Amino acid sequence: MKIAILGFGTVVKGVYEIVKKANVQTQNLSVSHIFIRKNKKRILPEMTDDIDEILEDKQTDVVVEALGGIEPAHEFILKALKQGKHVITANKAVIALYLKEFTDAARENNVKFYFEASVGGGIPWIQGLEKALRIDSVNSISGIFNGTSNFILDQMSKNGESFEEVLQKAQELGYAEADPSADIDGIDVANKLCISADIAYNINIQDRKNLPVFGIRNITAKDVDFFDKNGYSVKLIGRTHQKGNQFDYVVEPTLFVKHTLEANTPDNYNLISLNGDTIGKLDFFGQGAGMFPTANAVVQDLLDIKEEKDHLKRNFESKMEYNPELTSADYLVRSAANIASLFKDYAPTQKDNYIVVHNIPVGKMHEIMDLILKVDESAFMVSLPSNSKLAHKKISKQEAVA
Ligand code: HSE
Repeated sequence: MKIAILGFGTVVKGVYEIVKKANVQTQNLSVSHIFIRKNKKRILPEMTDDIDEILEDKQTDVVVEALGGIEPAHEFILKALKQGKHVITANKAVIALYLKEFTDAARENNVKFYFEASVGGGIPWIQGLEKALRIDSVNSISGIFNGTSNFILDQMSKNGESFEEVLQKAQELGYAEADPSADIDGIDVANKLCISADIAYNINIQDRKNLPVFGIRNITAKDVDFFDKNGYSVKLIGRTHQKGNQFDYVVEPTLFVKHTLEANTPDNYNLISLNGDTIGKLDFFGQGAGMFPTANAVVQDLLDIKEEKDHLKRNFESKMEYNPELTSADYLVRSAANIASLFKDYAPTQKDNYIVVHNIPVGKMHEIMDLILKVDESAFMVSLPSNSKLAHKKISKQEAVA
């Protein structure tokens, strides 16, 4: 089977190496072309900057898109599918926007569009989710979807290092996106969560402007130390729930007590959980970022195509309503601004440098946080587990702040 690779970043270098080191499973795979942009140097004989040479080559069976970003990735994927080539990609941003368009085009042209590496790196999450859905309704999904932010939070907690120091290490290790703001501002998690929710609920999330997303850009070593001393680890979490024909989703830093699986998810690892009717809670754990784990997932897709395994039979046509108030939580909010009155309906109390906000709808919390960021751009918030001792509601006179 002949493969054309678009782009030559970290992940495809790993794919190239795995395929070159042919074992019994991969020995019939070969890389015919590598597309590079016009300003890049051709360092391998397979390299070309002519996309049409690849798309029109009848010998090429599969295109692995690894350019990242939206365009021209979107255009090239569609063209490849329409030329009757299977397509594999790990590009979360383009899938989150165009999943339905790509799967429709694949179906119409009788080819496969697979994207296991796009969520959870080397974890077989997409296939795991799909397998759960053969029997169950999946009512909720939550977890650690981003290796870079997990690495940053883990190192800050273990070594007391600053945010900036650890981010640089994550970039050197090849975990972070070219522009790491997608990792630290929660955008990468939002993309992965949208793809997961699309599959879980068979919907096509198009309008993402109200999706509540809050990242870890503003976290300080002092915050991490305070959480640690109170018996918690902080993790950047993506969550979605379904109730009847409504769903919600959110990306936000969340505290976990020390003995939980989430608190013990180290380094660049991801931990993604689903809840199904009969399977109950099912956890998926593994390296969520990095060259070889992610390349492994791409090669798994290549082998599925080679072995003519058919999956991802979804039309993304169910209609569900997004309800930002479907779930509520308690939060800690840190800000130098005088913010307590904004939370007067949610029994605000003071705990150290933080305002504790009780039982507030998630969408409402993010709406208020957007207002706070306009006056204090270094403000931070974190959601608390239910029944957290940090959110105890017996309010003494000194603690009550509004
Ligand atoms: N930058 C991403 C992460 C890569 O850190 O999780 C894998 O999707």
